[in-house]
Amino acid sequence: MSLQRMLKLLYALVLCVSANEDFDWTKNERGSFYYGTFPTGFSWGAGGSAYQTEGAWDKDGKGMSIWDVFAHKKGKIFLNDTADHSCEGYYKFKDDITLMKDMKFNHYRFSISWPRIFPNGIKADHINEKGIKYYDDLINMLLDNNITPIVTLYHWDLPQVLHEKYGGWQNASMVNYFNDFANLCFERFGDRVKYWITFNNPWSSAVEGYETGEHAPGLKLKGTGAYKAAHHIIKAHAKVWHTYDTQWRSKQKGLVGISLLADWGEPVDITNQRDIEAAERYVQFYMGWFATPIFNGDYPQVMKDYIGRKSAQQGLGTSRLPVFSSQEKSYIKGTCDFLGIGHFTTRYITQKNYPSGRGNSYFTDRDLVELVDPRWPDPGSEWLYSVPWGFRRLLNFVKTQYGNPMIYVTENGVSEKVQRCTDLCDEWRMQYFKDYINEMLKALKDGVNVKGYTAWSLLDKFEWDEGFSERFGLFYVDFLNKNKPRYPKASVQYYKRIISSNGFPNQREVESWRRKATETCSSSNQLLAAGQTKEHSGSNWHFSTNSGTTNS
Ligand SMILES: *[C@@H]1O[C@H](CO)[C@@H](O)[C@H](O)[C@H]1NC(C)=O
Ligand SMILES: *[C@@H]1O[C@H](CO)[C@@H](O)[C@H](O)[C@H]1NC(C)=O
Repeated sequence: MSLQRMLKLLYALVLCVSANEDFDWTKNERGSFYYGTFPTGFSWGAGGSAYQTEGAWDKDGKGMSIWDVFAHKKGKIFLNDTADHSCEGYYKFKDDITLMKDMKFNHYRFSISWPRIFPNGIKADHINEKGIKYYDDLINMLLDNNITPIVTLYHWDLPQVLHEKYGGWQNASMVNYFNDFANLCFERFGDRVKYWITFNNPWSSAVEGYETGEHAPGLKLKGTGAYKAAHHIIKAHAKVWHTYDTQWRSKQKGLVGISLLADWGEPVDITNQRDIEAAERYVQFYMGWFATPIFNGDYPQVMKDYIGRKSAQQGLGTSRLPVFSSQEKSYIKGTCDFLGIGHFTTRYITQKNYPSGRGNSYFTDRDLVELVDPRWPDPGSEWLYSVPWGFRRLLNFVKTQYGNPMIYVTENGVSEKVQRCTDLCDEWRMQYFKDYINEMLKALKDGVNVKGYTAWSLLDKFEWDEGFSERFGLFYVDFLNKNKPRYPKASVQYYKRIISSNGFPNQREVESWRRKATETCSSSNQLLAAGQTKEHSGSNWHFSTNSGTTNS
């Protein structure tokens, strides 16, 4: 069957599957709001990750990660900031759990820092019991407060030693090192942790770490580095799933999944076959790159076709996209108990041919361009346009492509740019959560199997190459104050009401939420202003490493 026919069929399939449901997204107005509630037991929470929040970068025996080293190099991070201290979550987790308890979270998502457990990356070398104790305390206190831990094993902080000695994810030997680390986590924490995520957003690790170099370790191996890293990451994921399955599942009865970044691509012209195919390629090169091997056993056909053809045109004997052996395919297929979805935004996609040659990269391999509608709101991060309807389409796509898997939304949220005068009345974030969560509710009505939602993120935190200049938190963190106090934004109250109502019960009630949430934030604004005047009178409004290091 030709690719074109397959895509047509797929498109027809999507249309007819949703037409069978009583809630039809093809007929529903994009803008209309749906009042209703989530199924009983739907899990609400928020998340963060080790390097972004913990601080304590060199405390209690922790080793260096590639992010510690990368951020300390000048010129890599906005204002040359680092997460050496960040939110000091390592010391303040008890306070943070109090905040979660007040919001009545069902779960909290965090990651375990590999070099905090194995300072040199390798089990045989040294296990850091102090690092283990930190995560023990965190997990125990969450459970004491009836909050389920959802634990990520790899949120980008590879031990630096493994990068320096072996080339990190460019080297297949990472598969075994990562498996040793995961196995120890199952052994030490698995009696209490039942939701494991192997990798967070491996797309970023691969593309930004090894292709564009914007993220650690900062390599620019155009056209090959990302594919190779992803190949090893997928194998590592599969190996860890099998380790859990054969050694721990019967005792511990937990689940192992992966969390993929999955933004939506919509054809610019939905009647143009080339646009339809380009949009499909966008999604396949993004989420499908990882999801298709894990659910179906191999890379998406469209990636094999495009990268293979371009490699041949370059005069290469083999494709730049590595190949799985048939044994590996069956080993990798089906290694996902639930799929974690990180979703933030949408793009319009149209076809564009890039001539192949030495300039080949992951981005030109796709033969497409991304467009945005200038009417889409984007007051926060440059790339983050609010397009709520794309979320529902993406979730429906996952349902049809991968056999309706169990889904946890592992990241969804929005940032604001740092402004001189902070406003905790975050209208924009309330609107974003309202609309995106509503589209998720519509997707549930479409029959998508979503079990939980994780707002991203609990706290303002270190945003990778953007430093502290973009704030995703429900809670504002005053990074200039050595105590890193947290202040609730209005969206805390808003999200709390969504949680306590388990959705959007009726128009009258939902319309009162925004007003009620805004009533509380003006007093929070005053508290913040008072705290700031006291703590750093005379200091400049600059988030520089200098002001950050005065706090040790
Ligand atoms: C960051 O470091 C680079 C290199 O030393 C320097 O040129 C630049 O001015 C620094 N930026 C800031 C905001 O300090
Ligand atoms: C890959 O890692 C192994 C150690 O596990 C090492 O012996 C080998 O030299 C590494 N390969 C490269 C190309 O660095």
